Amino acid sequence: MKANSLSKYRPFPPVELADRRWPDATITRAPVWCSVDLRDGNQALAIPMNASQKLELFELLVRIGFKQIEVGFPSASDTEFEFVRKLVDERLIPSDVQLQCLVQAREHLIRRTFEALEGVPRTIVHLYNSTSPLQRRVTFGGASRGEIRDIAVRGATLIKELAASAGGTEIDLQYSPESFSDTELDFALETCEGVMDVWGPTAERPIILNLPATVEWTTPNVHADQIEWFCRNVKDRDRVQVSLHTHNDRGTGTAATELGLLAGADRVEGTLFGNGERTGNLDIATVALNMNSHGLETGLDFSDLPAAREVYERCTRMAVPERHPYAGDLVFTAFSGSHQDAIKKGMDLREGAGARWAVPYLTVDPEDIGRTYEAIIRINSQSGKGGVAYILDREYGFDLPKPMQPQVGGRIYQLADRLGRELTNAEIHDAFRDEFVNVERHLSLADYELDHHDVRKGNVRCRGKLAHSGETREYSGVGNGPINAFVHALETLGLKDFNLKDYRSHAVKGGSDADSAAYILLEGEGGKAVWGCGVDSSIELAGVKALVSAWNLLR
Ligand code: KIV
Ligand code: ZN
Repeated sequence: MKANSLSKYRPFPPVELADRRWPDATITRAPVWCSVDLRDGNQALAIPMNASQKLELFELLVRIGFKQIEVGFPSASDTEFEFVRKLVDERLIPSDVQLQCLVQAREHLIRRTFEALEGVPRTIVHLYNSTSPLQRRVTFGGASRGEIRDIAVRGATLIKELAASAGGTEIDLQYSPESFSDTELDFALETCEGVMDVWGPTAERPIILNLPATVEWTTPNVHADQIEWFCRNVKDRDRVQVSLHTHNDRGTGTAATELGLLAGADRVEGTLFGNGERTGNLDIATVALNMNSHGLETGLDFSDLPAAREVYERCTRMAVPERHPYAGDLVFTAFSGSHQDAIKKGMDLREGAGARWAVPYLTVDPEDIGRTYEAIIRINSQSGKGGVAYILDREYGFDLPKPMQPQVGGRIYQLADRLGRELTNAEIHDAFRDEFVNVERHLSLADYELDHHDVRKGNVRCRGKLAHSGETREYSGVGNGPINAFVHALETLGLKDFNLKDYRSHAVKGGSDADSAAYILLEGEGGKAVWGCGVDSSIELAGVKALVSAWNLLR
């Protein structure tokens, strides 16, 4: 901030709440969810959604499992009004979904809202007026607390009258003291109870009292104190559903909602991916997936998060940031080597579907929300050996011996460093094949034949031609297996200047024509050790080619 500007600001007053209980609480069940994408989210867009975009988003919200959807502010414009009529007239509202409509506590707006809702089977009329001292002074020209309370009570009275004659429509009432987050708690309570007195809620048909953090002025613990204070002081608590509606001005909207649930709230309003005024509304997907990650059922289905994101981005023209929880492009990606190694180990140790999730750095299994493992590890010059090995294994079926991984990783990172960017999986595979597989720089096999019959029992003979430094030479060797026979052949040609230290082979998973891969470690003069790889449809020849690769790489 600019120098001397701090004098403009004051600490936010704490809530007097002896023996607050929320710090010891845990979240054990999901709240009632209400999406406000089509109202709060929509009103925050540079280009608000048209009817077909709103409908597409509405249908997505229904598929996800929302049973309460605030579809608009029908008295605010003809477009909003027509959208509600479209849903009603074209019978687009599933029988278990309640349409919610927002209205300010003003007579003509309330009447117009009821016109929009004519014929809807079940609805929530959401009445609001602003209550904070700041709003009373600045927006309402110094209105008193009593005057502000009366606005709410008059609004509720009219809604009650109109509801009585709205035959066939089941109407629930929601009241929001807008700007609750900086309203005096006793006044918010007095206003809400004034509305309750008019409406007469019952335990079967409770009133929804929505307590918005219209602006997030302070830390989430204070929000939790405000909610707990309200829950403990409101009369007839069993006739009230306490609802949260957080915004994200300080970047802690999710935390505020979660602490608000600990503090006793029953219901949560928010939007997909947090679209909404300024820094946004609460991201409902994050809160629901946070609960899923603790094993809680939420009633919301985010098993195909990328598909939800696609619809959301197309309809709203907003972009989900790369680091956005659960949905961002990079959130299941590890660049750092030590993270990659740990993730690979965790993935390898998984015990099958349904087993407890325990992979370092990943709070959930990406597959559970429609993300893919391929995106987990990406390689740049900061990456570790595990990441490269993971990709070669998972994507291309090469199960590199552990001691070979540093050598391969080192070469791949040099390439990433030289290019100064992240490598694609294909580039990693190409580099591995160019550098380590069937390498024929100085020595290459021109011809190879293996004979099991004409030698002493238990031995095999290999023979053929090889090219060495431009010269073609015949070779022949005997040994207790193809590798040893070839080592013998090289010895007879005076080309054995190494010790063979390790040999492994496997079928290449998903490889074409059931290729085999073999890996050989040779130790040359001065103790220099290198791995080479051979790939061939014959497992024997794969081994010999691995030996030739390692021989060439020793030079
Ligand atoms: O943020 C807010 O206070 C609102 C109200 C209208 C509920 O969106
Ligand atoms: Zn809002």
